[in-house]
Amino acid sequence: MSDQIIDAFEAEHLDTAARLFVAVFNAAPWNDSWSEASARARLADVVGTPGFVGVTLVDGAELGGFAIGHTEQWFTGRHFLLQEMCVRADLQRKGAGTALLGALEAHLGDVEQIYLLTEQNGAAHRFYQHRGFRAAQRTGVMTKRIPLTP
Ligand SMILES: CC(C)(COP(=O)(O)OP(=O)(O)OC[C@H]1O[C@@H](n2cnc3c(N)ncnc32)[C@H](O)[C@@H]1OP(=O)(O)O)[C@@H](O)C(=O)NCCC(=O)NCCS
Repeated sequence: MSDQIIDAFEAEHLDTAARLFVAVFNAAPWNDSWSEASARARLADVVGTPGFVGVTLVDGAELGGFAIGHTEQWFTGRHFLLQEMCVRADLQRKGAGTALLGALEAHLGDVEQIYLLTEQNGAAHRFYQHRGFRAAQRTGVMTKRIPLTP
């Protein structure tokens, strides 16, 4: 971890972050089909959201991972939605994700709760579970497909 630096995620990271995002999420276990353009647009949406907070891990001169999301008001206080987190494949399972999550939490100020969406029982689920996250008991995710208008 000696030449790894964790810093704030800035808009200037968007291009390299998009390339990293494509490499990580188009590979197993996610096997998504992101293009560099769609990934950049997704990350730019997150960066442009009010309350944005993000951290990067730079390994040597290269982006090794990042965690980004935004804070939201709840009636009990502020919550943080962790929208995207990834670590470059060759750095995974060496503590980078744990370091990113710790740095992110340190940037969250008055936030009382972090929440996120991920696949049940996958490797990411285990990663978060081992770092203090619990699957919500009352809350679930609902989706609805909307036919595209030509
Ligand atoms: C999930 C992720 C961010 C974790 O970062 P990381 O640097 O690999 O994690 P760390 O080295 O700090 O911690 C390793 C732990 O994560 C879990 N883990 C991470 N990758 C795993 C894998 N491929 N298989 C099994 N467990 C894995 C393990 O539980 C592991 O051990 P521990 O919890 O007993 O200590 C990273 O693996 C990643 O980018 N994965 C692909 C993208 C992804 O799934 N992002 C999250 C989507 S919601």
